[in-house]
Amino acid sequence: MVIETNITKMLGIKHPILSAPMGPFYTTKLTVAVSEAGGLGVLSHVTLHGTVTLNEMKKSMEYVVEHTDKPFGFNIRTARLQPDAIKLCRQLPKFIMENQRIREQCVFLLTSAGSPKMMYNKHFDALRDSGSQIKHFHVAPSIDLAKKLVDGGIDGIVATGIEGGGHQSYDNISTLVLLQEVRQKLPEVPVIASGGYATGEGLASALSMGAGAIAMGSRFISSKECEFHDNYKQIVVNSTTSDTELKTGIFGPARVWKNALAETQSLVESKEEKQAEERSMSKVERELAELEMTYKGNVQEGTVYLGQSIGLINRVETVKDIIENIVYDAEKSLTNAYNTIKPTFIEQTVEL
Ligand SMILES: Cc1cc2nc3c(=O)[nH]c(=O)nc-3n(C[C@H](O)[C@H](O)[C@H](O)COP(=O)(O)O)c2cc1C
Repeated sequence: MVIETNITKMLGIKHPILSAPMGPFYTTKLTVAVSEAGGLGVLSHVTLHGTVTLNEMKKSMEYVVEHTDKPFGFNIRTARLQPDAIKLCRQLPKFIMENQRIREQCVFLLTSAGSPKMMYNKHFDALRDSGSQIKHFHVAPSIDLAKKLVDGGIDGIVATGIEGGGHQSYDNISTLVLLQEVRQKLPEVPVIASGGYATGEGLASALSMGAGAIAMGSRFISSKECEFHDNYKQIVVNSTTSDTELKTGIFGPARVWKNALAETQSLVESKEEKQAEERSMSKVERELAELEMTYKGNVQEGTVYLGQSIGLINRVETVKDIIENIVYDAEKSLTNAYNTIKPTFIEQTVEL
C-alpha cells in the first residue's frame, strides 16, 4: 500500500511518515528503523552530558549509512541557549559533503527552536551546490513564523501544534487550527504536520488538509527499536490523553507527562519571563540533568517529554508494524470517507 504525496516525492520515501527529532536523546537506531520501513528517520540533536555533539552527530550519520541505504534526515536546534548550534550549522554540511554515502542519503535538515538563518552560510550553500538533494525545513508553531520562513526561502515547514510532546511555543495553537491556517494563507508551501499524530485516522486527516506527511515523536518512543528506556515506553502505552501538561522547559513551555517532578514545576508565560530565568545557568544545567535522569529510567524525578497522543497508543510494536498499520488505516479511513460522501455528490450532480 502506497500513499504518494509532494513530500514523499520530494524526499524520495515510500510512506508519508517521519520520526520527529527527540533531542537531547539518541534516536539513531530509531532513525535506521524508520528509514528502513519506508518513512524518513530523523536524527536528533544529541546533547547528553559529556557528549561532544558534533562528533556524536557525525558518528550517528555514519551509523545510519552503515545500516540502511535509504534516505534520512537530522535536526539542529538553533536556539539562543544552544551553545553548539553555530558550530553544527557550519561543520555538519562540510562533513556531509565530504562523505559520498551520507551526501547521497541525507535528504532532510530540520532546524527548530530558533532561527533558520544560522543555516544560511557558505558551507550549506556549497553542500547544496554539490548536487546534494538536501531540503531545509523549519518547525513553525504559528502562521507568523511560517510566513517569515516562506519569505526567507525555506523549502518547507513542519507545522507543530500544542498537542505535541516536548517544547512548544507561547502561541498555544493546536495542530488542527494551525494546519488549516497554513493552508489558507500559504497554500503553496510544502507542509509536514506534527503534534498529536499516532493513528491512521490522524494521517488521513493531515493529508485531507493538504499536509504531505506527518512527523511523530511519542508514537515512535513506544517502538521496539527506539533507544529510550523501557520505563519511558511503558508510560506511553499506559497513559491517557489527559496525562500530560505544559510546564517550563529549557527553551520555554514544554509538554511533559504529569509525574512527581511536574507537580513541583510552574509554567512560564512569556519570553521575557523566560529570559529573566535564564540568567541563572545553573537552572538550565538542572533541567538538562532532569532530562538525563528520565533517559536512564527515573521517570518520576526526571522530565518526561510526551504529547497528548499517548492516550491513543496501547502497544510497543516494531517500527515497521507501526508505519504499515498507520498507512493501511489511513487509506481505509480516506476510502470510507469518500464512500460516505459519494452518494450525496452524485445526487447533487444529477440535480444540476
Ligand atoms: C522526548 C522528546 C524530545 C524532543 N526533542 C526535540 C528536539 O530536540 N528538537 C525538536 O525540534 N523537537 C523536539 N521534540 C518535539 C518533536 O520533534 C515533535 O514535535 C513532537 O514529538 C510531536 O508531537 P507527538 O509527540 O505528539 O508526536 C521532542 C519531543 C519529545 C517527545
